Amino acid sequence: MAEYADFNLGIYLAGLGGDPPPFPVTFAGLEAAARERLEHRLFDYVAGGAGDEHTQRGNVAAFERWGIVPRMLAGAAERDLSVELFGHRLPTPLLLSPIGVVGVMTEDGHGDLATAAASANSGVPMVASTLMQDPLEEVAARLGDTPGFFQLYTPNDRDLAESLVRRAEAAGFRGIVVTLDTWTLGYRPRDLQHATFPQLRGHCLANYFSDPVFRSRLAAPPEEDPGAATLLWASIFGNPGLTWDDLAWLRGLTDLPLLLKGICHPDDVRRARDGGVDGIYCSNHGGRQAATAPALDLLPAVVDAADGLPVIFDSGVRSGPDIVKALALGATAVGIGRPYGYGAAIGGRAGVEFVLSCLLAEADLTMGLNGYARIADLTRDVLVRTPGTPTG
Ligand code: FNR
Repeated sequence: MAEYADFNLGIYLAGLGGDPPPFPVTFAGLEAAARERLEHRLFDYVAGGAGDEHTQRGNVAAFERWGIVPRMLAGAAERDLSVELFGHRLPTPLLLSPIGVVGVMTEDGHGDLATAAASANSGVPMVASTLMQDPLEEVAARLGDTPGFFQLYTPNDRDLAESLVRRAEAAGFRGIVVTLDTWTLGYRPRDLQHATFPQLRGHCLANYFSDPVFRSRLAAPPEEDPGAATLLWASIFGNPGLTWDDLAWLRGLTDLPLLLKGICHPDDVRRARDGGVDGIYCSNHGGRQAATAPALDLLPAVVDAADGLPVIFDSGVRSGPDIVKALALGATAVGIGRPYGYGAAIGGRAGVEFVLSCLLAEADLTMGLNGYARIADLTRDVLVRTPGTPTG
């Protein structure tokens, strides 16, 4: 069986022929390369977050406070990284978290299509954002045999929400991820300082502009009056009135697996369970929304309350060991955001695939060298608390 760690060997062999790796192999390297490539306000939109950004630094630091206990002579020379999620046997536990501007991060302005193609090629599912530069139908058509999920920002127009879900179902997405933590925008100083927000400039609104319900709310089609369409979007995007009372309606929208993203408290997990959801997505949105909310530290209690429901985790995953640690804390699958966004920025589809290969090679090696051959071997007792590194 091919091991993900074999990717390393390929890099060394190419080096013998004089070829360095095409892209950086660390998160810091990816971020620096993306900073060079992206227009500076777009880079800040991606790299930045809420408040003084200690929330997103804390996401990374939380991983550093865990170590993995190595076991020797454990027969882990061959590993199996596959997991089961909603009836799909996935080759790895990784997911591509929704990034609502990846569409404009690639050179060709079709980053959602590039991400979908990378998903098809790698078997790593894409959670496609509501905010895409290409319509969800075209993105779904690039996913190949890899199951994809559609992420819904619930608009304050129920007919539009229903229309988006119907379209996602018809396009072949295998689950709906409703993001709850963005009913309004967080306080993001970098974007405020630049006085810029990509969607207000009409970017990444293809799912709205192509939607029959959205279009029916406009006096002129978006092609004729994009300004008015963008203003309508701004007025329907947020949904401050959404409460647990609306979960029955959301649940009733689809028979597909339904996940709630942004859940970090066990009581919220229990309410979600009671409301009939199929999975929990524990995340603090990469530190971009509610400032100071931890993520990884809350994962174990979320997993306990989920009581067997699949739990997806993201926020702060930067390396292979981070993936292994999140799994050991009980995640069923682990999402990455900025790392693949930077990959898309510097290399389009190839960049995303490279980032996935690096992360999977490192996760695979981390499991092997620590003596754990299967995901099921990763239980909480393989982790030990360490002092970590102060982040300031
Ligand atoms: C996001 N995220 C996000 N989440 C979501 O549900 N819908 C979206 O459209 C977006 N858009 C988005 C844009 C950008 C630029 C970033 C960085 C993030 C949050 C994303 O899905 C995920 O929760 C975080 O990115 C995970 O944290 P890391 O991996 O970036 O630390």
